Amino acid sequence: MRFIRARLKTSGVLAALVIMLTVGAVSGQQPGAEGLGDRLYPRLGNGGYDALHYDIDLIFRPEDNHITATTVIHAEATEALSSFNLDLHGLTVESVLVDGSPAAFARADSELVITPATPLSPGASFRATIVYAGAPEPITDPGVTFAMLGWQAWDEGYFSALSQPSGAMNWFPHNNHPSDKATYRMTVTAPEALTVAANGVRTEVIDNDDATRTFVWRMDQPMASYLTVVAIGDYVETRDESGPVPIRNFFPADAPEAIISSYDITQIAMAWLIDLIGPYPFAEYGVVIAPGFMAALETQSLSAFGADEPDPLVIVHELAHKWFGNSVSPGQWDDIWLNEGFATYIMALFLEWFVDVEEMEAFLYDLPPDLPPPGKIDVSQLFSDGVYLRGALTLHALRAELGDEVFLQFLRSYYQRYAHSVAVTADLIAVAEAVSGKDLGEFFDAWLYREEMPDLP
Ligand code: TRP
Ligand code: ZN
Repeated sequence: MRFIRARLKTSGVLAALVIMLTVGAVSGQQPGAEGLGDRLYPRLGNGGYDALHYDIDLIFRPEDNHITATTVIHAEATEALSSFNLDLHGLTVESVLVDGSPAAFARADSELVITPATPLSPGASFRATIVYAGAPEPITDPGVTFAMLGWQAWDEGYFSALSQPSGAMNWFPHNNHPSDKATYRMTVTAPEALTVAANGVRTEVIDNDDATRTFVWRMDQPMASYLTVVAIGDYVETRDESGPVPIRNFFPADAPEAIISSYDITQIAMAWLIDLIGPYPFAEYGVVIAPGFMAALETQSLSAFGADEPDPLVIVHELAHKWFGNSVSPGQWDDIWLNEGFATYIMALFLEWFVDVEEMEAFLYDLPPDLPPPGKIDVSQLFSDGVYLRGALTLHALRAELGDEVFLQFLRSYYQRYAHSVAVTADLIAVAEAVSGKDLGEFFDAWLYREEMPDLP
């Protein structure tokens, strides 16, 4: 599902040039662009098609962290294409089919260029089948200094793919940009001693006769590829169906009871968030532990945590991302404050509700000096204090500007309008102005883009 946002559109002059080039070409077909023009990650994603569904089938070998895989991408051409790209980092591609016919392919950096035997017409539905294998190479991303990204080995016997923003291309070829969400089916075969957890709902576990098991997971709501997760290890599953949403967590078999029960607060936070914002966007929720992982990540419907005792506010933060980040995803990477500012402000709102206003203010106002503006970032600031804290303070200031009642209306309207889609900052401003009837241009300009931070409310 392609969500085309104003700032990603080709400018008038470029469009004219493209038309001239198209007219000039004999066949009218052109190669699809190798990137989507994201300001922070120009080469992520690809032009000329809209990915609708990924069907990924892989066999995992833990001894050397090796995968043998087939990914089928169901897509629709949005232009006349002589060739198109997928993003894929490392691994060896064995064959490519487009609509069942062998297609030519080439590799260059993290691009897989596919030339179908017959060019694709605009609006054509097509299916590309990529057969590949290898040991995924973790990705170093300029936006994340605290972790390697993509499929990787953690502590002995545990493996998982955790990818925000660019890592997912180290284990399956795809359109690696949040503006092109798709549904997924992931079929993963592993030795029978291991359990596989992934996004969505588990529809099947098959006992094979070669001492392996195959797990089938489906995500039926649109998902940005950076939110995919596959986690493999000696997991035990806990299940709690007492609340509004089934909650199933995957813990290492040797996890202490104290760690397991520290996630019980999820049920309370879930009921509170549904009441605050609106229905939970997916069928089920849960967390999966990656022992050795030193952070937390809001992978869609199944957040990932390390093995240490979690901070309850981080549990709330990752759960809040189901609404803001998973369901409403950023249209481009410099809109990341729409994820992190909301998830951080919801931590503050949780403190206000669960404890009191003083506790909330202590959390929000305990600030490092000189927080840079969250709307004007370079790639190294994607997950920085400016984005998280000044992003949260922007929402807190907006609440003061609008009053509690209108602010709540804004929160719910913004969520509802962009649920299961993507939003950019201008969309948020438009909703805030529509709901309040105020001109908020100056307000957002000061909070999001100007160097000096406005006074705290
Ligand atoms: N989105 C995460 C959060 O704040 C932070 C994060 C971004 C992250 N990229 C990551 C964590 C990669 C671990 C690995 O909830
Ligand atoms: Zn976050």
